[in-house]
Amino acid sequence: MTEFAIHTEKLSKQFGHLLVVNEVSLSIPKGHIYGFLGPNGSGKSTMIRMLCGVLQPTSGVGTVLGYDVNKESESIKQKIGYMSQKFSLYEELTVKENLDFYSGIYGLKGKESKERQNELIELSGLTGRENQRSGSLSGGWKQRLALSCALLHRPELLILDEPTAGVDPVSRRIFWDIITDLGKEGVTVLVTTHYMDEAELCNEIGFIFFGNILIKGKPKQLMEEYKVNNLDDLFINLVEKQENNPLKGGG
Ligand SMILES: Nc1ncnc2c1ncn2[C@@H]1O[C@H](COP(=O)(O)OP(=O)(O)OP(=O)(O)O)[C@@H](O)[C@H]1O
Ligand SMILES: [Mg+2]
Repeated sequence: MTEFAIHTEKLSKQFGHLLVVNEVSLSIPKGHIYGFLGPNGSGKSTMIRMLCGVLQPTSGVGTVLGYDVNKESESIKQKIGYMSQKFSLYEELTVKENLDFYSGIYGLKGKESKERQNELIELSGLTGRENQRSGSLSGGWKQRLALSCALLHRPELLILDEPTAGVDPVSRRIFWDIITDLGKEGVTVLVTTHYMDEAELCNEIGFIFFGNILIKGKPKQLMEEYKVNNLDDLFINLVEKQENNPLKGGG
């Protein structure tokens, strides 16, 4: 048993000539909420897709829940909960049908499946909406349904790629209350976000800029160390200092 839910050493991904993730080393202890931050096109989703077992790294090594990212991607996919940047819901299916579908994928059956679905409907506040077509739900509800689908098999690790993009402040708050509770229960969470109020709720954050990790640590300690009052200022300062970074491109 490894003490880290996620551990990578010099993990890289190149698409043709484009180096998108450059030797990223990350260690995320079990039970931590880790915020992965960085401007558009910096390689966050690419890093996440390597960790979820859906993209083969170009080089480097890593483990997710003890499984090798280069060799055991199928086991990783079964074990983790993953919410992709575009929620993978079936819009023409109802709330209940989506939960049933994902329940089947994770091998839940009969009573166990039913009970778990009911628990998650309650957790996400979707009670009364079970038979509503998911395409007709508002952003906040869709987000919580997608989270519920990712939680069906009680994963020890939850990987969330911009789960709160385009979601209103009240829904974001409810969502983060759920995430914080999961963290208290010992679930490890890796989450990307562009919202710095959310980043401050993480145990640790890493800031990636065009494939390179520029800085990582506890939000409060980083703000003290760099003598700033908020994370926005810290990251804007960091990015400005990177003006001559040869990796800097569009985005
Ligand atoms: N399959 C692919 N083939 C070629 N280039 C890709 C591929 N996937 C991603 N890229 C490129 O890699 C870079 C990083 O993309 P990525 O989606 O990882 O960024 P991101 O940090 O998640 O951005 P955002 O905040 O906009 O979600 C971008 O320039 C993107 O165009
Ligand atoms: Mg992304």
